[in-house]
Amino acid sequence: MADLTGKVAIVTGSGNGIGRATVMKMAASGAKVTVSDVLVEDGQKVVEEIKALGGEAIFVEADVSNEDHVKNLIDTTVATYGRLDILVNNAGVGGGQLRTHEIDLADFMRVMAINVGGTFLCTKYALPHFLKQKDGRIINIASTYGLIGAPKAAAYCASKGAIINYTRQLTVDYAPEGIRTNAICPGYIDTSLGRRRSTLSDDALVAAIARREKAAAMQPLGRQAQPIEVANVAAFIVSDEASFMTGSIVTVDGGCVTTFNYGEASN
Ligand SMILES: NC(=O)c1ccc[n+]([C@@H]2O[C@H](COP(=O)([O-])OP(=O)(O)OC[C@H]3O[C@@H](n4cnc5c(N)ncnc54)[C@H](O)[C@@H]3O)[C@@H](O)[C@H]2O)c1
Repeated sequence: MADLTGKVAIVTGSGNGIGRATVMKMAASGAKVTVSDVLVEDGQKVVEEIKALGGEAIFVEADVSNEDHVKNLIDTTVATYGRLDILVNNAGVGGGQLRTHEIDLADFMRVMAINVGGTFLCTKYALPHFLKQKDGRIINIASTYGLIGAPKAAAYCASKGAIINYTRQLTVDYAPEGIRTNAICPGYIDTSLGRRRSTLSDDALVAAIARREKAAAMQPLGRQAQPIEVANVAAFIVSDEASFMTGSIVTVDGGCVTTFNYGEASN
């Protein structure tokens, strides 16, 4: 198990899903953590869960696309714990099932502002602390959809592809200063992302979930993952055990991007 004793970590969007599992895993591994989300009740619940397990956690409300919120997130964490060692840029949104000619500029830009802009802003304001201590560990949660094209996911694919190359760029600029930056590309993970499509009717939601489960079943491991299966990898990457790992784009996807879907075909 990764040992994060004495480290301080921020995980954005950690009120639910992969972020929640990651912040809980890091707390269980000894880190003092900041849970952050736009959903206050969800985030506060995670803090209570961590404390009940004997961990140390605070909640800071922050929309990662809002510069003032992000500054406050970083400042409050450092004021509370006296340092910052780990940043997980996890907060993200989908962009609806839309192709390019169907999506409005405003909707496209909103996805970019949260997924890419949020990653930029949190990293920008965390970096001075990392530079001061010549140590910092950043994980950007991208997606397999940043590595390949996917049907009707124009904004999401564009944003996740940007996060992947930004991860490499950060490595070039900051690895010489002792800061490691890596990206994780989850495949189909069983979280609320697929379940919280408020615009869908109940029937449509059931159909969307079924589609997702069917798509996951066609991948090499044949199932969706639980969020903890991503969190375990994240905790390892930010630990000292992964000390030579930077600029890596790590798939945690049950083998999704090793192949294309052969369907019924075989040779
Ligand atoms: N679930 C998957 O299959 C999957 C696959 C690949 C990548 N991802 C990525 O993993 C990350 C987490 O997704 P998830 O599946 O756990 O989703 P989720 O919806 O369960 O959790 C995302 C959390 O982010 C928060 N959030 C949304 N917008 C925010 C903002 N502007 N500022 C701060 N917080 C915000 C939400 O309130 C929510 O609590 C996302 O970046 C997503 O793109 C998920």
